[in-house]
Formats: sequence, C-alpha cells, structure tokens
Amino acid sequence: MTEELVRKVRERYAQIAEGQVSGCCGPQTSGCGSESAVTLGVGYDASELALVPAEANLGLGCGAPIGFLSLKAGETALDLGSGPGLDTFLAARQVGPEGRVIGVDMTPAMLERARANAAKIGVSHVEFREGRLEALPVESSSIDAVTSNCVINLVPDKRAVFAEIARVLRPGGRVVISDILLDGRLPAVVEQDLLAYVGCVSGAMRREEYFALVGAAGLEKVEVLRDVDYLATLIESAPDEVGALEARTGVTREQVLGRVHSVTFRAEKPAR
Ligand SMILES: C[S@@+](CC[C@H](N)C(=O)[O-])C[C@H]1O[C@@H](n2cnc3c(N)ncnc32)[C@H](O)[C@@H]1O
Repeated sequence: MTEELVRKVRERYAQIAEGQVSGCCGPQTSGCGSESAVTLGVGYDASELALVPAEANLGLGCGAPIGFLSLKAGETALDLGSGPGLDTFLAARQVGPEGRVIGVDMTPAMLERARANAAKIGVSHVEFREGRLEALPVESSSIDAVTSNCVINLVPDKRAVFAEIARVLRPGGRVVISDILLDGRLPAVVEQDLLAYVGCVSGAMRREEYFALVGAAGLEKVEVLRDVDYLATLIESAPDEVGALEARTGVTREQVLGRVHSVTFRAEKPAR
C-alpha cells in the first residue's frame, strides 16, 4: 500500500511537470488558478519570484521556507522534493557560487524540468539528484541547511524522512520546512480521497505526532515560524479546487476549515 501511494504521487507529479494537469499543493482535479497567485498566497514576495525562471514556479509550495533559513555565502543547502526548483534557485542566490545547493526529487520529469531551468539561468553550483526522501542520496553530516516545501506530507514513512534529515545535517546544522499539518481529523471520505492525498491534504499528519517524529530523530529547538489555515488560503487562491473537493466528497469547506494548516518551522541538529 505504501509503495502504491508513492507510485501514485510520482505519477501525479510527472503529469504536473509535463503540463498535462496544472498543479497546486491542494486538492487537485482541474487546475488551481494562476501559479503565481498560489505562490504569492503562501508567502513569497513578487520581487523574490522575479529572481527565478517562471518555469521553476508551478505553484506547488505551501509556504516560503527559504526566507527563514538565513543562508550565508559559501554554505551547502539541500532542498527535499525540489520539484521544478523554485526554492533551490532562491537558495542558490543566497549561498552564491562559493556555496552549493542540492535538490532531491523522485520524479524524473520534475528533475528534467529543474535541470532545464538550471541550464537556462546558467547556474553551476546547483545540482538535482534523483532519490527518495526516505533514503537520501546524500553523504552524512555534509549539509549546513535543509529545506523542504510541501513534500513530507506526501511521504508515507515520515519517520524515515526525519531520520535522514538528521543524518545528512552537520552537527549544529538547521532545517526549515513548510508542510501541511492537521489539527484534529479529516472526515473519513476526505482521508481516503486519492486526489486529496496527491494534492497534499490527506497525507498530512496530526501536528503532535509530526513533531514527535522530529524530536525522535534527534532534532531540537523546534520553533514554529508561520502557521496559517491552508484551506482558507486555497479558498482565496484556488476556489475551483476547493469546490471540486466538496463536489467529489460531499464534505463542505466548513467541515474542514481550521483543521488543515500550512506550518513553517525550524529545528536544529545538536552541535555536540
Ligand atoms: C508538492 S511538490 C513540491 C515541489 C517543490 N518543493 C515546490 O515547492 O515547487 C512535491 C514534490 O516532491 C516530490 N516527492 C514526493 N514524494 C517524494 C519522495 N518520497 N521522495 C522524493 N521526492 C518526492 C514530487 O515528485 C514533487 O516534485
């Protein structure tokens, strides 16, 4: 079942990368408004977006984590589930050519798109690697800063992801993640809706369980930096998507409002 879900996620994000369906990290069926509307709605500045190729922005994020990562010139950063590369390229500007940014994604079509974007802007300190978040193709203790935007909710084995983050970070390294978390439970029909899973809603874990996994991996000093009602954001930026979810499941937005949150948080690996 777990591997079947991963396969469905890969299939869906391949279709999005190839432009067969438009995507947002929301309950997708028909498309979700303009990508930049979605991306502005989750916290990016228009001036920031102007710095990266438009093709790197498919409106797939649910936060704007790079602004909180405080990257310095020369650092090595890792973007988990890098998709078309939006956060990877923003990070690359901050670490500069003396630094390095690695994007990891499991969907070949996304990697192809991200590499084409890198070639277009001529950055040589960015690398996109094919791999799974649950078994990162990255050396232990080699990364200063890890980020991820709306991906971990899509991974059935979240425990493995946090263990891998702790493994690849150098002692004293930090992580800033934007992800979808639940407060309370979703109605069963939404929980079982595959489109809501691949759209980053029903794979989300309850907040307390999620942060328990972060702590169990050995990450500390967890600090929530941004916490917004994700459904309210989607109602504004992608109303058709929310309507489609309601029509598909028979569940109204009022029944879900307040339970699905987009949370950006920071944590550290102990310096020892
Ligand atoms: C919602 S998109 C986010 C993309 C990117 N972070 C952004 O904000 O544009 C999720 C991405 O994570 C990738 N992904 C999902 N599960 C993964 C896994 N288990 N391992 C590696 N990549 C994964 C998908 O292929 C997709 O590109």
